[in-house]
Amino acid sequence: MDLAYLSEWANLIIRWAHVITGVAWIGASFYFIGLDNQLDPPADGDPRVRGEQWAVHGGGFYYKRKYQVAPPQLPEKLHWFKWEAYWTWITGFALFVLIYWGQASTYLIDPGVMDLSPGVAIGISAAMLVAGWVIYDLICRSKFGEDETKLSIAMVVLLVVAAFAACHVFSGRGAFLQVGAMTGTIMVANVAMVIIPGQRKMVEAMKAGREPDPKYGRWGKQRSVHNTYLTLPVLFLMLSPHYPMTWSGPWNWVVLLAIALAGALVRQWFVLRQVGRNPILLPAIATVVIVGLMVALRPAPAPSLAGVEVPAFAEVQAITASHCAQCHAAWPTFDGIAAAPKGVMLETPQQLRRWAAAMRQQVQTEAMPPGNLTEMTAEERAKLLAWIAAGARTE
Ligand code: HEC
Repeated sequence: MDLAYLSEWANLIIRWAHVITGVAWIGASFYFIGLDNQLDPPADGDPRVRGEQWAVHGGGFYYKRKYQVAPPQLPEKLHWFKWEAYWTWITGFALFVLIYWGQASTYLIDPGVMDLSPGVAIGISAAMLVAGWVIYDLICRSKFGEDETKLSIAMVVLLVVAAFAACHVFSGRGAFLQVGAMTGTIMVANVAMVIIPGQRKMVEAMKAGREPDPKYGRWGKQRSVHNTYLTLPVLFLMLSPHYPMTWSGPWNWVVLLAIALAGALVRQWFVLRQVGRNPILLPAIATVVIVGLMVALRPAPAPSLAGVEVPAFAEVQAITASHCAQCHAAWPTFDGIAAAPKGVMLETPQQLRRWAAAMRQQVQTEAMPPGNLTEMTAEERAKLLAWIAAGARTE
């Protein structure tokens, strides 16, 4: 078995695990934010209790209470929520390394954006992952961190800088995943470096018979609120490789920020609904943003093909043979490609007919060939598109 084939399996298994652990983590995180927001005052009036909730799920009744700081004494067994987050990061990082570092010249680099060598691109990518967390954490711990408004503004500025920088260094697709990985890293580091250590200090204090310091609870809560607003934007970024229209244009960093904003607004709406409010303006703005993007990013109108003569099928086949079939073939010859990507083979007339619509999407947005590795010219693109527009005839 060759390496490229094994790496396909690694891709599948790690991605599967990543989605599973991500669902477990984000599910638990949404659950606890919802629980926190929907607590009722304690029925017994216990001043140490911040709130309680009765719930029914899966055929059982549950009774949950949240303490202001901590219960009078610690139970024998405490359930911690951390491995969901850690494993989401471990699998996510492994997948990022496998795809975006392992095949940097295909996925991370676009010489049209910046002509980087794989080593340099990987170095910048790694440095940005670390820097994102370090800068974010320093801002949270600084004076800014004490004022929620200032902190929110600082975080938005940080995201704008990250999106702008990534989109001016990496390929569009690579940049979106880079920003997604940076944000995901911040979210997991919030759990690993702030929330869990704080909880551990509180538990230690109680074991030593001391009153736990409530500041750890406050800090943990602040980071967990940040995580909740970042969730929807990160999930979009993780899915974005499927949607070249979002990252293939020159204003891709603005698109990234606009969709992130829409995601955060929708999350804010959900959170406010949990406390009994319903600011319908939030989803309305999100909808306007998404519809605005749909209009702004619509593909260039057909007239660009008006002057282009529909080529004979033989010419189409020559174009795909020299620009696509190195990878999209039963036996790919391109280094590192073991099987036709996404099962798309572009060799026989039947195959070219079958995939014509998908080819139009990929060729129009210039998502294919990736990073224009096979140096397809604008003229060749126009010919291929004209042939598809005229009905993809193979005789
Ligand atoms: C260097 C190898 C390579 C070349 C050359 C290449 N592709 Fe691809 N193609 C890929 C890979 C890798 C994917 C899968 C991308 C992904 O993982 O999202 C892909 C995916 C696709 C898809 C499916 C997209 C989807 O997400 O459903 C189509 C259609 C496609 N390519 C068309 C083309 C066309 C048309 C050409 C030539 C103009 C071409 N490709 C050239 C590597 C290549």
